[in-house]
Amino acid sequence: MEESAERLKPTAGPHLVGRKEDLIKAKRSFRTLEGRDVLVIHHQGTFYAMDFHCYHAGGPLQNGDIEEFDGKLCIVCPKHKYKISLADGEGIYSAKKPQAPEAAPTWHSKGIKQRIHTVTEINGDVYVTLSCVPRFIDSDYFQGEKGRIERERFEAEDAKKNSKARTS
Ligand code: FES
Repeated sequence: MEESAERLKPTAGPHLVGRKEDLIKAKRSFRTLEGRDVLVIHHQGTFYAMDFHCYHAGGPLQNGDIEEFDGKLCIVCPKHKYKISLADGEGIYSAKKPQAPEAAPTWHSKGIKQRIHTVTEINGDVYVTLSCVPRFIDSDYFQGEKGRIERERFEAEDAKKNSKARTS
C-alpha cells in the first residue's frame, strides 16, 4: 500500500488557496496542489487542511460532519463513518472491551491515518503548505492517478455489495 517517496515529497509552497472570507463562506474547499487532492476546512474560527480522500477506502471527506469525540474535533467520513481528527489526522474509534461487554465503550486510537497540511493566513490570503512527513500515511494511498484507480475500484466493490444487499 505504498507510493513512491518521490510522489509524496512536496516540491513547493506555501500555495495560495483563496481569500479568507471566501473560504469561510465555503466552509469546505477542494484544491489540487502539486497533484495532491486537499480539503480545506473552516470550522469554528479555525482553518484545517487534510488529504481529501479518506484513508479507509478513498471516500470524499468534503461532506463529512464535524463532531467532537473524546475531546477531539473530528470529521466523520460520509461513506463508512470513520472518525478522523482535524488537528492531526488520527483515526479514532469507540469499542467495548471483549472481557467487559457490559461496560460502556471507550475510545481508542488507530494512530495517524490521514495526512494533515499546514494552513497559514497572510493579509486575508490563505495558504496551504503540504505535509512533508516523510513516512507513508494511509491516506497517501488514494492520491494521484494510482489513487484514482483504487478509489474507482473501491467504489465499484461498494456498488456491487449494495446491489447484492438489495436483491437478497
Ligand atoms: S471511505 Fe471513509 S470511512 Fe470508509
